[in-house]
Amino acid sequence: MQVYVGPEPASVILKVMSPHMSPEEFRAAAHQTVDWIADYLRDVRRYPVTPKVEPGVLAERLPAQGPEHGEPIEKILADFRELIVPGVTHWNHPRFFGYFSISGSGPGILGEMLAAALNVNHMLWKTGPSATELEQVSLGWLRQWLGLPEQFFGMIHDTASTAGLHAVIAAREAAGQPDAPLVLYTSEHANLSIDRAALAAGIGRGNIRHIPVDDEFRMRPEALAAAIKADLDAGRKPFCVVPTLGTTSSSSLDPLPEIGAIAQRHNLWLHVDAAYAGPAAVLEEYRHILAGAELADSIVVNPHKWLFTPVDLSALYTRRPEVFRQALSLEQAPAYLQAAGSASAVNFSDYSVALGRRFRALKLWFVLRYFGRQGIAEILRGHIRMAREFAAGVSADSRFELAAPVLFSLVCFRLRASDDQNRQLLERVNATGAAFLSGTTLRGKFVLRLAIGNIATNDNDVAQTWELIRSTAASIS
Ligand SMILES: Cc1ncc(COP(=O)(O)O)c(C=O)c1O
Repeated sequence: MQVYVGPEPASVILKVMSPHMSPEEFRAAAHQTVDWIADYLRDVRRYPVTPKVEPGVLAERLPAQGPEHGEPIEKILADFRELIVPGVTHWNHPRFFGYFSISGSGPGILGEMLAAALNVNHMLWKTGPSATELEQVSLGWLRQWLGLPEQFFGMIHDTASTAGLHAVIAAREAAGQPDAPLVLYTSEHANLSIDRAALAAGIGRGNIRHIPVDDEFRMRPEALAAAIKADLDAGRKPFCVVPTLGTTSSSSLDPLPEIGAIAQRHNLWLHVDAAYAGPAAVLEEYRHILAGAELADSIVVNPHKWLFTPVDLSALYTRRPEVFRQALSLEQAPAYLQAAGSASAVNFSDYSVALGRRFRALKLWFVLRYFGRQGIAEILRGHIRMAREFAAGVSADSRFELAAPVLFSLVCFRLRASDDQNRQLLERVNATGAAFLSGTTLRGKFVLRLAIGNIATNDNDVAQTWELIRSTAASIS
């Protein structure tokens, strides 16, 4: 094939055998792949939500050693369809209701494809001007849609866990170098990623406080104040508090204004984990959930949970970007990164542990533009409405009870029966492959969780899943 190797005249165009996939081969394979993706998205209801496979099954079917010589792309794509897809849990399935159900969307997938094609690494503005600026612009749009203060600086991380780790590192930096041990506060219902962030930042297990919650699973401000006082009296140094908006088990809302006031009083870094529920603030009628967020030093919202952006994309906003920079910047950039740049340009790697950065903003920008604020609001409203209708069905069936208030698109419910029977119900429903729910424990009892988050989920999906749960419950003794 012909390869043009530089700006030289046509006379130096070389005739070489390329080890690369040729543009023609790429085009043909890409068309096939896109056709497969479009069919998959159209037909995803035909797949079982969870695969019927045992651990090790794929590993046994694949060779133990990688191929010595390259293989044709047709064969690789065929193995993808025949070996890989049967072992996939379909998070894209409209009846995937487990954990926090998430979904990508057509525009998000296209943005992801183009990001892979460009393969930009915008560790510095110079290494990715468009990627850097699109990250600022798209996070700026999202910030406005959420009603967060204008001066909040946004940066993208892979996950809320990584964003939380950065927040705790910044909080530790802001606390200076006290002799006393640093103590972090969060609720007993906080996501495990907060504990992990504290551990990774060297805070130590003994210095993480899990503040008790009230009867609606919200952190109790007076218990927080008492815990802070006890630590101060014991000579420790409270430095960070992490309330959650949309806790993982029940989607409860910690009282942010009260917790924010306590944080201010004690000069604690306030990191708000709004990974799941944050996107609901795009709706005018839910804007109030972020009341108090203006007090936050940092806040995380996950477009990859409930904003139709394919995994992974987590938005971290902070009022104090300079603290992140101070915590993570070196006295002098290493020689290989030194480059003349404009003083006004943002170099995102100055604010993060990772040097390299994927062009994630592209898929978010595609999603925000394709749906628009009103389009997104419409889908979120639909999810919340379907969750309420499902909850009404639960309340109307005397065999069942709701286990937590339904604030967003998550319904926690249980059979009025033993934990074992509730576990059996969950296992039997999931074993059908027709729907997938997850479980948790609330007030010491096992409960089922139905979380609606998929862009394609409709009333029929929810109604049929409820029918499946009811009929399965009839077989549980
Ligand atoms: C409230 C909350 N915070 C943080 C996380 C962690 O999110 P990620 O998987 O993006 O790290 C989750 C995950 O479900 C969550 O529910």
